Amino acid sequence: MVQAIPYRIFLDEDHVYQGIVVFSMRRIERYRLNKPRQRNFIYRFLKSIQRGGRWLFQLAEGAANAVFGSENNPMYYLGGLTFFFLYILVVSGIYIYIFYDTEVDGAYASIEYMTHEQWYLGGVMRSLHRYASDAMVISMILHMLRRFFNDRYNGGRSFSWVTGVPMLWIVFITGLLGYFLVWDQLAQFIAVRTFEWVDWLPIIAEPTARNFLSNANMTDTLFRLLVVTHLGLPLFLLAAMLLHTNRLHQPKVSPPRKLAIGTLLSLLVLSLIHPAFSQAPANLGVAPGVLHFDWFYLFPYPLMTLLPKSVAWAVIGGGTIFVMLLPWLPPKRRDPVAKVDLTSCSGCNLCVEDCPYEAIRLEPRTDGHPRFNYEAQVIESKCVSCGICTGSCPFSSPFRHATELKSAIEMPHSGMQHLRDETSGALQTLSGEQRIIIFGCDHGMHVTKLDRTDTAEISLECIGMLPPSLIDYALRQGADGVFVTGCRMGDCFHRLGNQWMQQRLNDERKPELKRKVPRERIRFFMAAEADRSALVRELEAFAHDLQAIPVKDQKS
Ligand code: HEM
Ligand code: SF4
Ligand code: SF4
Repeated sequence: MVQAIPYRIFLDEDHVYQGIVVFSMRRIERYRLNKPRQRNFIYRFLKSIQRGGRWLFQLAEGAANAVFGSENNPMYYLGGLTFFFLYILVVSGIYIYIFYDTEVDGAYASIEYMTHEQWYLGGVMRSLHRYASDAMVISMILHMLRRFFNDRYNGGRSFSWVTGVPMLWIVFITGLLGYFLVWDQLAQFIAVRTFEWVDWLPIIAEPTARNFLSNANMTDTLFRLLVVTHLGLPLFLLAAMLLHTNRLHQPKVSPPRKLAIGTLLSLLVLSLIHPAFSQAPANLGVAPGVLHFDWFYLFPYPLMTLLPKSVAWAVIGGGTIFVMLLPWLPPKRRDPVAKVDLTSCSGCNLCVEDCPYEAIRLEPRTDGHPRFNYEAQVIESKCVSCGICTGSCPFSSPFRHATELKSAIEMPHSGMQHLRDETSGALQTLSGEQRIIIFGCDHGMHVTKLDRTDTAEISLECIGMLPPSLIDYALRQGADGVFVTGCRMGDCFHRLGNQWMQQRLNDERKPELKRKVPRERIRFFMAAEADRSALVRELEAFAHDLQAIPVKDQKS
């Protein structure tokens, strides 16, 4: 049996959002008829890379979840770990600086002293500095790739993406300068190569590479300038990092305590068993011999040495611009943003506290309401259309008696009326012994692909969009159980949605699920696409558990 209900929503004079809800015995699918079909070459290319990358990351993250648990999974804290490595670099860097000789003739010897004479502290600090900077590159690149593969970089997130790209540069330049300060043969190689490339650019009148032609040309002033730049750039980096996370609500700027301690201990152990050493001292009169490369920072050097300088700069410049523009390649039409209905809004602040992108603010009332002083206002440029605010608002209730059911804040294309209709439609399709409604999200395990006969599935943009009262509604209207799923814990596509949902079900966050709603009829299980079989097992266990609940205890 198939039932099709068309719907049309007038967003404004120019935009009509129309769709069709198709109910079948097996599943419910939503077709958004006027979604742009982006099928050009760039789009297909990026999408296929993203799919492959996402799959690999999900496998790695699943394994890490099994070892560390989702609350300490390093893959879920890559941004926070990058911050943490910077803190380690600052502390170890300050120690190194105390013993470091900033003159060109003394620099090498001072580092050798720390490494060999004072190996137990100076040497450990030096190695810690080296390994934390390598780890920073790894965590930063993984963090960036993860955002890209998981499609978390466009719309309201493009600000974080665009501000992230210059940070890549700051980290690399700071690291290269760090290698330079050792003033060994690797430093010599880096200095000569880098300044040859810099000289190609028409920005500096005097060629800088000639400072490195002979030992006599290399002055203390130039050396100190590079030292100061190495020390100053991290300040810019810190400012850029704060800007980068500025538009996010509760950004994870540090890893949880256990992960932080484990990471620090691992770096310390590595520093003790495999200390960092310098190579032979620099001698500008002689070409460097065999070099031991740090591939984390120096990977472009061999390739760039082979390329003509013009091509090397074109690759660097073009690559940077391409990466920066990725959120707009191809330009996408954004989903409509959340809309506030002042006739209901009481200015309670719940949506402001829950919005993961700081896209809602509370402002003095503009409609002269006699009782309420404040109203919610959506900052359209920051809104990513996650719908979490619908789940937060106490007025998102399917039990309200209104001609047109409307919450005080909702998504124009998926408002309360629509959610209630979808739930009612889903309930009609259920039959059999245990009738289970599954509320899922578009970014976790795709519940609409479950292909089962005993469940009806509704997929939301984010599970945080689900008002708890809709669970109550589904149970009262005939469902035997409600299964709630979304992205893996710690890894919500919209950052905080699954966490808020869990807290609402546990009475830890408003709006809570009413106390009288039987909790044994609700199952909360978060899963990614790669967890399909685990989710099916959990669903079957839930159906089995439901059978054991006495009928008299059923829905109120
Ligand atoms: C020093 C390097 C970096 C640090 C310390 C850093 C740190 C962070 C942190 C802490 C967050 C918040 C994560 C959360 O709470 O969900 C974040 C978000 C983000 N970062 Fe970075 N990041 C760095 C580099 C980059 C780079 C190079 C890119 C890409 C070019 C990037 C793209 C993003 C994006 C798009 C978000 C928003 C994610 C979302 O909304 O889910 N970051 N970053
Ligand atoms: S939909 Fe709501 S919660 Fe999500 S970003 Fe927009 S305003 Fe914030
Ligand atoms: S949660 Fe609802 S009622 Fe409260 S401020 Fe936001 S829109 Fe207004």
